[in-house]
Amino acid sequence: MFETIQTAPPDPILGLTEAFNKDPNPDKINLGVGIYKDAQGKTPTLECIQRAEKILSENETSGGGYLPMTGLAAMDDAVIPLVFGAGSDAAASGRALAAQTPGGTGGLRVAGDFIKKMFPGAKIWMSDPTWANHKGIFTASGIAQETYPYYDKAAGNLAFDKMTAALAEVPAGDVVLLHACCHNPSGMDPTPEQWTQLAQIAKERKFLPLFDFAYQGFGNGIEEDAAGIRAFAAAGLEMLVAGSFSKNFGLYNQRVGALTVLAGSAEAVAAAMSHVKLCIRVNYSNPPAHGARLVATVLGEAELRALWEQEVAAMRDRINSIRKRFVDTMAAKTDKQDFGFITTQLGMFSFSGLTKAQVHTLRDQHAIYIVDSGRISVAGINEDNIDALCDAIAGVL
Ligand code: LMR
Repeated sequence: MFETIQTAPPDPILGLTEAFNKDPNPDKINLGVGIYKDAQGKTPTLECIQRAEKILSENETSGGGYLPMTGLAAMDDAVIPLVFGAGSDAAASGRALAAQTPGGTGGLRVAGDFIKKMFPGAKIWMSDPTWANHKGIFTASGIAQETYPYYDKAAGNLAFDKMTAALAEVPAGDVVLLHACCHNPSGMDPTPEQWTQLAQIAKERKFLPLFDFAYQGFGNGIEEDAAGIRAFAAAGLEMLVAGSFSKNFGLYNQRVGALTVLAGSAEAVAAAMSHVKLCIRVNYSNPPAHGARLVATVLGEAELRALWEQEVAAMRDRINSIRKRFVDTMAAKTDKQDFGFITTQLGMFSFSGLTKAQVHTLRDQHAIYIVDSGRISVAGINEDNIDALCDAIAGVL
């Protein structure tokens, strides 16, 4: 039976990492996948995680059995105030419950299966553009998809008027996928005022918001990056939030994330979570424990939590300063294109404006790896590679 199978196309992001890893060029540069790199080009294990590992290794005497379907309770409890704010009504009222998932992708897939099961006729509306994997995840869950305008490529800005006009037409009962912060791939986020406007539209149209919250802390700050979610919660809306701890805890290969459900009452959220659990059971039964224990330990110890906040701020600051260095270096090398818009964007990604043909030339001639859409992972730029990178980009403009 396998003889007839045709090879599948490579994944647009992770397939690029495979090609990068195979490239023997010692000067290769990877601006593809969204993985944080420090000034030395390394993905560090955060100091707070190293300390949490020590605490766990000194205290764990038994591996234990399976975690519950919803994962480690201590982590789930810690996620809710992180998302909605400590002392918020959403966190204090018992209307929110979280289930640990294998990364943000796991949370999105469980959310997709839950939506398909509970609201089989609902369509999902996604920003144009969006993360390359969103379409695949919701296709796998069997959900019909629509898009709403989001990014004005020519202006390098949010297409807010077009976005609100499209969302004002979304039928009641559909789902709208929103990037809570650090929009992937554009790096353009709504302002707090715009979030309040979007929450108002959601309330009027009665659609269900699903937030992808993969970059908390990488935009303006851990609390600030939740502004959109909190504006929707303050408007009294129900929602799903698929969060990830891959980036902000540097736990990429531990696969730690959480799907949080906010409902109108404690009874409604408990009923919803009972179905989320069933979706988890048929996907992977229950999530792995170690990464969640690390996150729960850091969030549960005041000193470690303060250290984590500092370390997230340091990652964010490095990305912001390298954005500026990139724009200045490009300006010094060419006047063919102004990259100034890159300093107004947030998080790991920006749309560089490079065409697919330019991206391919950079890959073939300079071993610079960028996804075909022209999205660059800014975190891959450092003092050692910025000059060669900007020379090569200037050369293809
Ligand atoms: C990305 O967009 O590069 C990251 O979210 C990693 C991934 O899984 O695609």
